[in-house]
Amino acid sequence: MTDDGDSTTPPLLQALRGARPATPPVWFMRQAGRSLPEYREARAGVAMLDACLVPDLAAEITLQPVRRHRVDAAILFSDIMVPLHLAGVGVDIVPGVGPVMEAPLRTASDIAALVAHEIEDASMIADAVRTAVTELSSTPSGDASWTPLIGFAGAPFTLAAYLVEGRPSRDHLAARALMHADPASWDDLLTWCARISGEFLAVQVDAGASAVQVFDSWCGSLSLADYARSVAPYSRLAMQAVQGRVPLIHFGTGTNHLLEELAKGADAVGVDDRTPLDAAIDRLPGKTVQGNIDPAALFAGWDFLERHTLEVIERGRRAPGHIVNLGHGVPPATDPRLLTRLVERIHAA
Ligand code: CP3
Repeated sequence: MTDDGDSTTPPLLQALRGARPATPPVWFMRQAGRSLPEYREARAGVAMLDACLVPDLAAEITLQPVRRHRVDAAILFSDIMVPLHLAGVGVDIVPGVGPVMEAPLRTASDIAALVAHEIEDASMIADAVRTAVTELSSTPSGDASWTPLIGFAGAPFTLAAYLVEGRPSRDHLAARALMHADPASWDDLLTWCARISGEFLAVQVDAGASAVQVFDSWCGSLSLADYARSVAPYSRLAMQAVQGRVPLIHFGTGTNHLLEELAKGADAVGVDDRTPLDAAIDRLPGKTVQGNIDPAALFAGWDFLERHTLEVIERGRRAPGHIVNLGHGVPPATDPRLLTRLVERIHAA
């Protein structure tokens, strides 16, 4: 999908080029998910990873929030663990826990064995993207006649944190210890993660994704020096797989100290809700920003949510482009009617 054939470019893609569309573009991380009754129905009896591998089901779930909320972008329904699974790494997504690895990486030889894995077949991901993109090509967003699809991948550090820790962890102590103790194995591990993430991004772009987002959800646990030296080069390697083909959004949480680094090689920076958006913008000259409504505001009553959202939009005016989003994903307990109302309100701002 290109935006050249249309007289109008969807607001999301305008903002990613550093422009100010007539209506502010908005989408929500985790917009396709447990907050939607139609999602819970579609997923009934289907394991999370399996749902990601059935193209028609993944495409249908991808489209649900676009139909319901009229958001300005779809994001492929998948998971950052899917490329690991496609490369034959033993991973399960356990309800109520998150990703759990069959065999956490403990030694240099564990890592040497891992890096021999390849993604053999990602055709089901390409099929899901193509099916979703076909429907989105006739779904209006703003004054454009179609809606873009965002592809995504996990950043190498966030993938490595799961591979080493074996399950969700608060401080990623084992992963960060490996980074310091065995830089050669760390280099092998992160290079492999970057390649797998890059391939996953490229499959989605080849199949018609109009933009991509790289999620480094856990990089906030790193110091600036460690991030810049031992992580950022690999994130850039992953991003290079699609650089120059589609705009790229780079997102992490707890990243106030890392924003300038996150911006390198990215067209837009996703800002979490702990950093005031205007303060982030002042540090990111020329960059489009995405964010940063506090997910807690979804549970604080409409008046607060509206006020808070309008303040985010106001602070965002200092940037060349602003994509409205939450500071992190939609909490499962969110009332979906509130999200629909919020999209309407943002489009009227
Ligand atoms: O919201 C849902 O319930 C949808 C289904 C689901 C997803 N992942 C979709 C997803 C479920 C149950 C998961 C499991 C999972 N994967 C968890 C546990 C989630 C929970 O609350 O129980 C976690 C932590 C992961 C790993 C993961 N996946 C991370 C760290 C990220 C990056 C974004 C983030 O939340 O920090 C993902 C991406 C992801 N998972 C997406 C989707 C549809 C893509 C991006 C998006 O829609 O924003």
